[in-house]
Order: sequence, then structure tokens, then C-alpha cells
Amino acid sequence: MSTRILGIESSCDETAAAVVADGREILSSVVASQVDVHRKYGGVVPELASREHLRQIVPVVREALAQAGLKLEDVEAIGVTQGPGLVGALLVGITYGKTLAESLGIPLVPVNHLEGHVHAVFLEAHKTGRAPKLPAVCLIVSGGHTVLYEVKTEDSAAPDSSALFHYRKLGQTRDDAAGEAYDKVAKMLGLGYPGGPILDRLAAAADGAPAPVKFGPTKTRGNPLDFSFSGLKTAVLYHLREHAEYAPEIRKREEGLARGERKFDQLFSLCSPATLGLVREFQNAVVRDLVDRTMIAAEELDVESILVSGGVAANNQLRTTFEERARAAGVEVFFPSRPLSTDNAAMIAAAAYSRFRAGRLADLTLNADPSLSLA
Ligand code: KG4
Ligand code: ZN
Repeated sequence: MSTRILGIESSCDETAAAVVADGREILSSVVASQVDVHRKYGGVVPELASREHLRQIVPVVREALAQAGLKLEDVEAIGVTQGPGLVGALLVGITYGKTLAESLGIPLVPVNHLEGHVHAVFLEAHKTGRAPKLPAVCLIVSGGHTVLYEVKTEDSAAPDSSALFHYRKLGQTRDDAAGEAYDKVAKMLGLGYPGGPILDRLAAAADGAPAPVKFGPTKTRGNPLDFSFSGLKTAVLYHLREHAEYAPEIRKREEGLARGERKFDQLFSLCSPATLGLVREFQNAVVRDLVDRTMIAAEELDVESILVSGGVAANNQLRTTFEERARAAGVEVFFPSRPLSTDNAAMIAAAAYSRFRAGRLADLTLNADPSLSLA
């Protein structure tokens, strides 16, 4: 008999539930995005996030069970995100998880959201049959995090889904997360929220556009594996301020967005070659920084595998650049599929499995930890 874990995720702006068997077989995965709620504010509003989670949590869990063809009584444990994240948002999932676990008389397993992102890579690897070797270097890159870890297990280079991972933090952002930089730059350019997907597509469509500005590599004093993206964001801001010719098209795009015109073609048709070139240079700088530092870490630690997860791991240029650089360096790079890259509960249920097997359970005193660390 397999062990079926119901995962619950509510750390940011996605309410998610999933059922995963034995930490590797996804029986269902449901994600209710709040992006439409937060869009007009250009970012996640914590109070609104909590309220949306409250509205969504029961139907989302019900849907996850229905899609798996299961009843609550068929689940052996509940895995829930304890942190890091927004405290009010986390509390919705934790409170509901506790209530379910208590009423069903089954264990509650606390999960670190970042460990969930690591497990997303292994869920994908199980689907494709190509597994990463440990120790590995893992880059988690999203709207809230940009951090590099060494991931290993006590004994095995090819762990099964019940192995407990150990983490060592190698570097992290000193200021903004990479996804946050995407979101802020898109907002400055009148391209809406979230910024990542639209900037990704515009950069790909910028072939031949002139480069109105070049961004050099960011320097971080001290740890060479630390990241920094706020300087790049500010450089874009100053460039826009110094060149008045961007203002009219930004206004046009903002007016279009206010009318609900946020399809790619609609926005693209309102972008000058200079804007396309600027977007491309911005993305080149972000991707170069993420890939360079990760490759340095992989070389220093002499690992055979690189894992990349989190919302920004959906980025096309990041994926192809990593693949090229990894091939040249003789290492393998692993990504989750795009739906598993962004926040979801299947990764939480997968991470919960090894903790469940190791008896690392929570009781009813479990509290949200907005700054829970992994290493
Ligand atoms: O992991 P995620 O869903 O939530 C957080 O934990 O933050 O990541 C969301 C972030 C947003 O900042 C979004 O702009 C970014 O991931 N993102 C992308 C792409 N798709 C989503 N960034 C760059 N390129 C993409 N294709
Ligand atoms: Zn996340």
C-alpha cells in the first residue's frame, strides 16, 4: 500500500492542495492563483492574500481529493507549509491542516516551502526517469527568494523519495529576489503584473532591436555566491527617467492594461524597439548573473548535478542558458516542469513524505514561521 499525503500550500499568493503517493507519484495537484486579485496593486497585498486563502482553501482541498478519486479518510498524513512566507497567509493553511489532521486522527507534517521547491525537481525527475545525483547545487529563484544551496543526503548519491536531505546555504540575494526585479521592472515599463512571463516573451521577440543601454555584471563584495538585483532595477529606473521618449508608450500600455488589454500581442504592439532592447538587456543581465554564480558553485563543489526551481525557473532564456553552460561544463541541469516550478502543493506533499517517514511531525502547537530557514 502506498502512503498518500495531502499537501497544503498557502505561503504567498497561491492556494494549493495536492495528493502525492510515496513522495513521488502526483495523484492530483490544484492551484488557485490570486493573480487577478493582486494585479491592480502591482504586487501581492498580504491582507488580501489571507482573505483569498480563506475563501479558497476548502474548495481547493476538496478539488484535490476529487481529482485523485479519494476521500479524506484515504489520506495517511497532511503536509503543510510552515514557512517562509506571509504570516497571515501561512496561518490559513496551517490552521486548516491542523484541523483536518486532528479530526481525522492522522499526523501533521510541517514543511519548509524552500524544501518543497527542491522536491519539485525530484517529482519531475521521477516522471522523466532521469534523476539528479547528490550532492548537487540547487538554485531556488522566485518572487520571494534567490538562494543557492548544496543539497545532499547522509549516505546515497541516488536517494529514494524517503531520503532526508541536508542543506548548506552557499549564497543568497542581498536585496531583491530575481522575480521581484522582474515584477518591478515590468511595473516601471507599464507591462503589468506579474512581470516575469511578459518580459520573458518580449525579450525573445527583441531580436535585432538596438541595445539602448548595457548592464555590467553585478559585483557583490564578500561572498562571490551572493546575488544582488536592486542595482539593476535602479539602473533601469534611471535609464527611463533620463530618456523622456519612453514615457508616452509606457502611458499607452498602462491605459491599455486599465482597459484589460494585457494579451502579449496587445502589449507587444505598443513597445518601441528601444523598449524591446531594454527588456532584452535586463533579462540578459539577470540570467547571466544567476547562471554565472550557480556554475561557480557547481565547479567549486565539484558536483555532477544542478537543480533549478522556483517561479523564475520557468524562464525560457534561463533554461536554455543553463543547459548550454552545463553541457559545456560536463554537468547535468534539472528543472521542474513549468507548473511544478511555480508555487504548488505537490512539492509540499513530496517534501512531507521523507519527514513523515522520519517521524518529524508537528503537534497542535505548530505555528507559522515567516522567516523559516532551510540550512
Ligand atoms: O515561485 P513563485 O510562483 O512564487 C514565489 O514563491 O515567489 O514565483 C513567482 C515569481 C514572480 O516574480 C514572477 O514574475 C516570476 O516568478 N516568473 C518569471 C517567469 N514566470 C514567473 N520570471 C521570469 N520568467 C518567467 N517566465
Ligand atoms: Zn515559492
